[in-house]
Amino acid sequence: MARLSLAACAVAFHLCLLVSSSASLRWLSDKPAAVTTAGGVRTRSAYHFQPAKNWQNDPNGPMYHNGVYHLFYQYNPLGATWGTGNLSWGHSVSRDLVNWVTLDTALDPTAPFDSNGCWSGSATILPGGIPALLYTGRIGTGKGMQVQNVAFPKNPADPLLREWVKPAYNPVIPLPADVPGDNFRDPTTAWVGRDGMWRIAVAAKVGGPNGIASTLIYRSKDFRHWKRNTLPLYTSRAAGMVECPDLFPVAEPGVEEGLLGYVSGTVSGTVRHVLKLSVMNTTQDYYMVGRYDDAADTFVPELDNERILDDFRTWRRFDYGHVYASKSFFDMRKNRRVLWAWASESDNMDDDIAKGWSGVQTVPRKVWLDGDGKQLRQWPIEEIETLRSKRVVGLLGAQVNAGGVNKIVGVGAQADVEAIFEISSLEEAETFEPNWLLDPQKLCEEKGASVPGGVGPFGLLVMASGDMQEHTAVFFRVFRQNDKYKVLMCTDLSKSSTRDGVYKPPYGAFVDMDIEAHGGIISLRTLVDHSVVESFGGGGRTCITARVYPDHVVNGNSHLYVFNNGTGAVKVSSLDAWEMATATVNVLPDGLIAASSVSRAQAY
Ligand SMILES: *[C@@H]1O[C@H](CO)[C@@H](O)[C@H](O)[C@H]1NC(C)=O
Ligand SMILES: *[C@@H]1O[C@H](CO)[C@@H](O)[C@H](O)[C@H]1NC(C)=O
Ligand SMILES: *[C@@H]1O[C@H](CO)[C@@H](O)[C@H](O)[C@H]1NC(C)=O
Repeated sequence: MARLSLAACAVAFHLCLLVSSSASLRWLSDKPAAVTTAGGVRTRSAYHFQPAKNWQNDPNGPMYHNGVYHLFYQYNPLGATWGTGNLSWGHSVSRDLVNWVTLDTALDPTAPFDSNGCWSGSATILPGGIPALLYTGRIGTGKGMQVQNVAFPKNPADPLLREWVKPAYNPVIPLPADVPGDNFRDPTTAWVGRDGMWRIAVAAKVGGPNGIASTLIYRSKDFRHWKRNTLPLYTSRAAGMVECPDLFPVAEPGVEEGLLGYVSGTVSGTVRHVLKLSVMNTTQDYYMVGRYDDAADTFVPELDNERILDDFRTWRRFDYGHVYASKSFFDMRKNRRVLWAWASESDNMDDDIAKGWSGVQTVPRKVWLDGDGKQLRQWPIEEIETLRSKRVVGLLGAQVNAGGVNKIVGVGAQADVEAIFEISSLEEAETFEPNWLLDPQKLCEEKGASVPGGVGPFGLLVMASGDMQEHTAVFFRVFRQNDKYKVLMCTDLSKSSTRDGVYKPPYGAFVDMDIEAHGGIISLRTLVDHSVVESFGGGGRTCITARVYPDHVVNGNSHLYVFNNGTGAVKVSSLDAWEMATATVNVLPDGLIAASSVSRAQAY
């Protein structure tokens, strides 16, 4: 193994310990053996989590336990496609949520109650510090039948919790009579209610094939015998089926700390909660802020004027790009709520098979309730910044005039970019048409980066080829609506790749902020990671993650630009860009053991 530099040491502390302590370090190749196309290597993420090879989808059971972060994920050990019936729980551990050690699969479809797949679920740390996994077992062929199972660590004293045991008394929750077999899944982390009993939420379609998308509550005294509440936590007629529910408490508006919440007493009527549902019909994650009524075990959304209960298009989303099946956990180490989400590939299955892998996770994001009490804010966890290596101070106070494009030298396909834009005057804002409200994505399509406007489009061009034939535009555009302004944020993929067979939509959403009250100032942070462009607009009010597959990466470099195609001038009041180091995401476990045999003090 090559020697790590001191800088890399500071970044990847457990690897440093490895170097100083163990000569027998083995690596899983970061480049899957099956890769024959150059694109497969060049599009592989450098700091977004992905296993060494094969398929991954939903993040499962994230937790922080005994000084170690655990991430489980839906994983097909047999290949780069979904493989319905073969899904296992992949398992990786970390001390910093950035660098990961890969372990053997934690759950495999080997028991009668999960013979056709170990599907998504959650982790709960029981009193006494024993973690429990709840997951969906899929039985039988065809559409199969779904049940809920529990698993415990074989040896709770193993710091890495490598082996998991599925008790023979599973399933702990059989399929209910009023739910079609393939519509009952994804148990949440459990919490304790007022009556001292455990509760979990499970997604189900209730009442036959045309049933209602429901989030059912089950209660238990002993984590083994579960009984369904008569009332669901939440139902919606707007969606055929929902998946991966997530219910979590948030602190007061504007307070960035997270709440554990799932402890008796704190889940009171005064704390706001967030309910997230993954809607199958659109494969998008939606959330609502509201109250969890812990007497009735129901969720009551707090609606503002623009949100309509039975129309999911009006719900807010964690991410308006290409992510699904998100899951959050409370990180006790830093008192924050952290969100993971799956960003699937958007090229095509043949490419996935050729490159030998499919799917990445977004960077872990801190989530909190905005000062307005209505929307969530998200920001990459601060640990990601340990990967910032070369800093490129770009434009400071530079004006980007109409049609202007400024190149930021030294930043390419693996970067973290933070820009603050200052709009000189809102005078030129185009007039907003109310019928645009429900379809910002379409608006981004009609008014892409190359359609000149009044205030904007302005923003970043990332993953740009030298000749600019390929580029991904992440930008804002401001409209006037009566005496207010509306900020549109887009990630426009139409020029992202010259390749065919690649999904190149525009993504878009409004940024819920009063740009005038903010003095015309708006920020944009974009994480560029080869095939991932993950953006946080307006301080994390609006997030858009896209997957891109530019052709130029095969034998050319990628570049970064700032642009403005509006008639009004825009000042870049600050722009910081860093080249990002590569995280070590697939180290084998003897590494970590070697690490922990060295003085622990060194690791913190
Ligand atoms: C599971 O894997 C086996 C072996 O590769 C394969 O034959 C089978 O089709 C897979 N099953 C499903 C449901 O994907
Ligand atoms: C799901 O989507 C399809 C196609 O867009 C639509 O026709 C159908 O009504 C949707 N179903 C529900 C329950 O929303
Ligand atoms: C800006 O607009 C001009 C004119 O439509 C276009 O040629 C140019 O490509 C646009 N810039 C970007 C970044 O799309």
